[in-house]
Amino acid sequence: MSVLAGKELRIVGFLCNWCSYGGADTAGVGRFTQPTDLRIVRVPCSGRINPLFIMKALVNGADGVLVSGCHPRDCHYAEGNYYARRRLEVLKGLLPVLGIDPRRFEYTWVSASEGQRWQHVVESFTGQIHALGPSRRLPAAPELEALLSRAM
Ligand code: FES
Repeated sequence: MSVLAGKELRIVGFLCNWCSYGGADTAGVGRFTQPTDLRIVRVPCSGRINPLFIMKALVNGADGVLVSGCHPRDCHYAEGNYYARRRLEVLKGLLPVLGIDPRRFEYTWVSASEGQRWQHVVESFTGQIHALGPSRRLPAAPELEALLSRAM
């Protein structure tokens, strides 16, 4: 048995209000079992997520960050998830430059009716983060925190 078995890690989830938050709710109503490591932040749209939010969470000690929005063409603000996808792909490429393992960040699409898919996404991402273990504090964390605070 793994040393981390039974231990909770700190995973932050940014979920769009219209689809993925509804999907998480559907999973809850359907009583689908899920790991309890995820702390959800509800946002109006995935397009509202500034990549700096994700960087700040990871620099401040989150072990993983998951972003989930509406499926492409289903965004309630028409194109928010397309903007999000572009920004988040750039962020994925930037994380190793900061010394952060890019596997600690993932984005996906889950609709309000996909409770079972939500369960699968959470289980799979949480399992990936547990396999990586707790994140280590970055040597440049204080400087990065100051920089990110000024930029936001
Ligand atoms: Fe869900 Fe835009 S409203 S991604």
